[in-house]
Amino acid sequence: MDLFQRQWATYRAVLDHDLMEHQAMSLACGQVLRQVCATAKAPSLVDLGCGDLGLLAPLLLTLPLGHYTGLDLCAEVLPLAQAALSQAPFPRSWMAEDLLSWANAPQAEAVEVIHSSYAVHHLQQDQDKANWLRGCRRRITPGGRLIWVDVFREAGESREAYLARYGGRVEGWNALRPDQRQAVLAHIQRFDYPAERGVIEGIAQEAGWSWQWTWEGHHAAEAMAVLSPA
Ligand SMILES: C[S@@+](CC[C@H](N)C(=O)[O-])C[C@H]1O[C@@H](n2cnc3c(N)ncnc32)[C@H](O)[C@@H]1O
Repeated sequence: MDLFQRQWATYRAVLDHDLMEHQAMSLACGQVLRQVCATAKAPSLVDLGCGDLGLLAPLLLTLPLGHYTGLDLCAEVLPLAQAALSQAPFPRSWMAEDLLSWANAPQAEAVEVIHSSYAVHHLQQDQDKANWLRGCRRRITPGGRLIWVDVFREAGESREAYLARYGGRVEGWNALRPDQRQAVLAHIQRFDYPAERGVIEGIAQEAGWSWQWTWEGHHAAEAMAVLSPA
């Protein structure tokens, strides 16, 4: 197994044991997506940081989408995502690209739905997240929705305090092998920069969004927000 396969196998193990509550999140996400599809006719959906679609594909396959675009910085996941949607009745496109570049592409088309799960917390600065929110605001249709699933810090919580708290939780993930727990801990220390609740809601408002929390996990970290043009 190469490094990519090992890292992806660890993420799959986190999903398979539902350690980040993906099951409850995808039920809630399904409800929102079905509502959007009931009001917008054959909407286009762009999935920023789509990964291998191991979780989302069964839900996507049931939706009357007009078009699906899967975008991920890691080109190696795209063939897996492509295979997961091979039976989809709607057209698909694939992009190996950065989600911030996508949001800020000049003269780009607007879409009805932007979905992103567990990818935006990899943007390190609030400034980057603000640029992403402004770019997505430009690229959403008037009645469209941005569905943002991610880990978030509590109001007033530093990144260090968040990492200590989340790390303590990972130490208890006994369903994973010790080397897998170590890989998760190293990954979050290096790559996780969750936005702070309250602060990010203000940033989104300044970018022209109206914010609604629609799902909360049990650990004051994983959550889903649905943003509409204000
Ligand atoms: C934890 S996985 C989540 C995959 C899937 N969305 C899910 O919820 O299961 C994060 C994904 O985001 C991608 N990613 C991270 N930073 C990114 C960026 N700046 N632009 C695009 N994709 C990014 C990673 O390559 C990875 O596939």
